[in-house]
Parts: sequence; C-alpha cells; structure tokens
Amino acid sequence: MAEFFLPANSKVRRDGRLYKAPSGSTNVRVFKIYRFDPDAKENPRFDTYELDMDHCGPMVLDALIKIKNEIDSTLTFRRSCREGICGSCAMNIDGKNALACISACADVKHDITIYPLPHLPVIKDLVPDLTNFYAQYASIKPWLQTRTPPPPDTERLQSKEDQEKVDRPSACILCACCSTSCPSYWWNSDRYLGPAALLAAYRWIVDSRDEAAGERLDNLEDPFRLYRCHTIMNCTEACPKDLNPAKAIAEIKQMMVLRRH
Ligand code: SF4
Ligand code: SF4
Ligand code: FES
Repeated sequence: MAEFFLPANSKVRRDGRLYKAPSGSTNVRVFKIYRFDPDAKENPRFDTYELDMDHCGPMVLDALIKIKNEIDSTLTFRRSCREGICGSCAMNIDGKNALACISACADVKHDITIYPLPHLPVIKDLVPDLTNFYAQYASIKPWLQTRTPPPPDTERLQSKEDQEKVDRPSACILCACCSTSCPSYWWNSDRYLGPAALLAAYRWIVDSRDEAAGERLDNLEDPFRLYRCHTIMNCTEACPKDLNPAKAIAEIKQMMVLRRH
C-alpha cells in the first residue's frame, strides 16, 4: 500500500517526551505520536509512549484512549463510534491513512507511528482542520433536488436496480482518508474538489429520483474542480469502506464527454 507524505508544514522535533511502560511489563509496544499545540509556539514533536498491551485493547484507538485516560490527558484526537461508522478517528497510522478504531496494533510489526491526516492544517495533535473538506462537500449540494411535484400518495420510489447504483457510494462516512491521500488534492485543495466530494457528487448524479443531474455536471465542468484527478488511484486504495472514488470520478468524466456529443 502507498505511503503518503506527512505534514510538510514544519519540522517535527525528535526531542519529545518518553513515557515508559510500568516496570514488569512483558508485552510492550511503542507508540510514536505527533504532537502539536498551537498555543505553545513550538514546532511539532514526537512523544513516545510505551504501553503494556496485556492491559490494552487491540486497536490503535484503544491505545490512544488508554494513553489519554491513564498517561497523558493532553493528547488530543477525534473519535466517536469505535465501530468504523462515524469517520472521526481517521489518521495516518504507520504511513497509511486509516480509521484508528478498526486498525489493529498487531498489524504493525514495528513501533507504531501516528500522524494526523496528511496535508491539512493541524488544529492540535491528531486533529486536522476539515473546514475546507466539509465546504467542498456542501458545494456539491448533497441532497435530493427535484423539479417536479412528488407523487400524491407515495414517496418518490426507485427500482431495486436504481437503488443499487447509489447504495455503495452512499456508504461514504466522510472520513477524508481518500482526499488526504490524493497528490492532486494536496497541491490544489483550494480548487480541486477531491475524491470524497466527487464521490458524493456522483452519488446524486446517478440517483434516478434526482432531477438536477445537468446542473450538477455543469458545476463540475471546470479545469480544477473535476479534472485535477489524474487517476492515480491512491483514493480507492485508502478508503476504509472499500469504496471506489476513482471509478466514480472516471464515470463523471465519461458523462461529461457523452453529453457534449
Ligand atoms: S484517482 Fe484521482 S482522486 Fe483518486 S487519488 Fe488519484 S488523482 Fe486523486
Ligand atoms: S470515499 Fe472512503 S475514504 Fe473517502 S471519505 Fe468516503 S469513506 Fe472515507
Ligand atoms: S471512532 Fe468512528 S470511525 Fe473510528
């Protein structure tokens, strides 16, 4: 799996703190965690935490929660569901974007290095600023748009086949693992929508109940918003939900070609 460039905005100091495992521990794993406190006016640093895995859950998120609860309450990260559903705990673990709650510590054979998602401004420690990411999602108008009145006695129905077209893309949890693994997004995130927002756009374009597909495509007809995708495929590789944003983007490009003829 591809490894991604990590926060490039500043030099990371190697003189961080070391928190030793309790004496007598026999099953010790080492976690090297990116720390950044904007109020400290210092460069980021790595802190090193040794954990006795005999007294820790199996997932990377379990380790982070143990550190925060028992060793260092200043460590800051997002999490909510612990089920791979909410997308909050996305971070860069051992060089790969992943959800900490479904990433097993045992799958990393050496010291476990944890950064925030790459190429985003860092608010604190493992918490990136997703303001632009969410604004891009909002820009594709991720809701059903209709022009005709609804049927008088029923919902707007669709066939099983049509539902299956939106079923998988609807499973996106907006974790941002894909967009922050995309080199085009790293360099042009102010103008390129990125794979997560484009997958969402695709989800509404192909929805048989939606009546704004033409406007949705018009909105993407731009050298940057759509066409900065160069089919590098990092996004699909990074998705923890096994979705395929690269394929969705390719299909949108195909729709653009077809409607010109
Ligand atoms: S396929 Fe497109 S969106 Fe996905 S990583 Fe490559 S350039 Fe980015
Ligand atoms: S497509 Fe996958 S990686 Fe991208 S935001 Fe959705 S769930 Fe996360
Ligand atoms: S805590 Fe919700 S996806 Fe990890």
